[in-house]
Amino acid sequence: MNFYSSSEIDYIVCPSGPLHGEIRVPGDKSISHRCVMLAAVADGDTRATGLLEGEDVLATVEAFRAMGVRIEGPHGGEAWFGGVGRDGLRAPSADIDLGNSGTAMRLLAGLLSGQGFDCSLAGDDSLRRRPMRRITEPLSQMGARIDTARGGTPPIRIRACDGLASIDYRIPVASAQVKSGILLAGLYANGRTCVTEPAPTRDHTERMLGAFGVATVRDGRRTCIDGGARLAATQIEVPGDISSAAFFLAAAAVRPGSDLLIRGVGVNPTRTGVLTILERMGADIEWSNRRTAGREPVADLRVRGAVLHGIDVDPALVPLAIDEFPAIFAAAAAARGVTRVTGAAELRVKESDRIAASAGALRALGVSVRVADDGMEVEGGAISGGEVDSEGDHRIAMAFASCAATAPVRIRDCRNVATSFPGFEALADSIGFDIEAVDAGR
Ligand code: S3P
Repeated sequence: MNFYSSSEIDYIVCPSGPLHGEIRVPGDKSISHRCVMLAAVADGDTRATGLLEGEDVLATVEAFRAMGVRIEGPHGGEAWFGGVGRDGLRAPSADIDLGNSGTAMRLLAGLLSGQGFDCSLAGDDSLRRRPMRRITEPLSQMGARIDTARGGTPPIRIRACDGLASIDYRIPVASAQVKSGILLAGLYANGRTCVTEPAPTRDHTERMLGAFGVATVRDGRRTCIDGGARLAATQIEVPGDISSAAFFLAAAAVRPGSDLLIRGVGVNPTRTGVLTILERMGADIEWSNRRTAGREPVADLRVRGAVLHGIDVDPALVPLAIDEFPAIFAAAAAARGVTRVTGAAELRVKESDRIAASAGALRALGVSVRVADDGMEVEGGAISGGEVDSEGDHRIAMAFASCAATAPVRIRDCRNVATSFPGFEALADSIGFDIEAVDAGR
């Protein structure tokens, strides 16, 4: 057991051999956010199972409690929502603090733009650096009275409005958050709201709207929603998060002798880019027990360790693996040859600048990298020990805690792992890692 007296946590990681076991990972973060949001504004009571109890989703739960929604749980992944209906939210009495969560902020900006009350969406130091004009601009075009701080960053202030106008919007960057924010605002617009994306992105909002009885229409890269619909309460089973599974999949894939089974992982085709990339590098990943849960495809994934080789990652896969690049860079460092990632400039505006943070981590562990504006080349080979700065980014912390280093690694500033993967260290240790969380004493 660990006892933390300061606010910062570091990981001390000792080298590990092959990984073995049969595990489940916590619920999908993207799907959990959408479940909470739609259950809150549905008519009637919704029950959810498998909901992520990470801090990001808990922030969304608290946001709706502050707007008058009764929510029980989540406990053990189960939660009950007393939906207030599409027009039943009440003005919060204070700013809504969304912590580290860009998804919560961009989706809520859309959902709250058409309400009859003022509110303000705030976040932590990382969120306060992230670009928000990509969502406030289209919402303004719909007639929302919405502003960011100077520089287009949070807080986002929204003033009451009495209805939005529909738009037909072409999103300049591939972003499911922007697409989703606009579709949620479209629920409150008159007429048909359409968004066209430059490349396919995760479609959890569309699927979750369908589960609550609201249709979206997809034609190529264009998705439309009709305003005015009401949502019908339902039951939602949230699958395991492939973005959390990715750390263990990549780690087992590069350790010959490993044999790891992860049950109940969401394998929506808009999220499985990491599996394709690892397979193209030579990973042995077997799917079984395919089924559907809450309109989302789910499977058990078994990975056996191998020696991987470097590849040029197809830029078309980037949006389908957007959160997995820290884990992919760590796998590339253990592979034979060079891996090149291009077309991934969006990595620079995640919870950290993930190109810079990953490059910094790899260099600290003796790996050669060449950094570009939109990606990176990683020279595979041995990974040494050293000290890595996670820059407060949960995925950088987990990717380098699970990399195949041959000597001890210290990872600084790992507290935010709790935003997406509560219980990460214990689950990792159960399959053969040796990760200790320590009070950083800073
Ligand atoms: C998410 C979409 C992606 C992803 C984020 C979650 C979502 O962001 O990086 O972690 O739930 O819609 P962008 O849409 O900004 O690329």
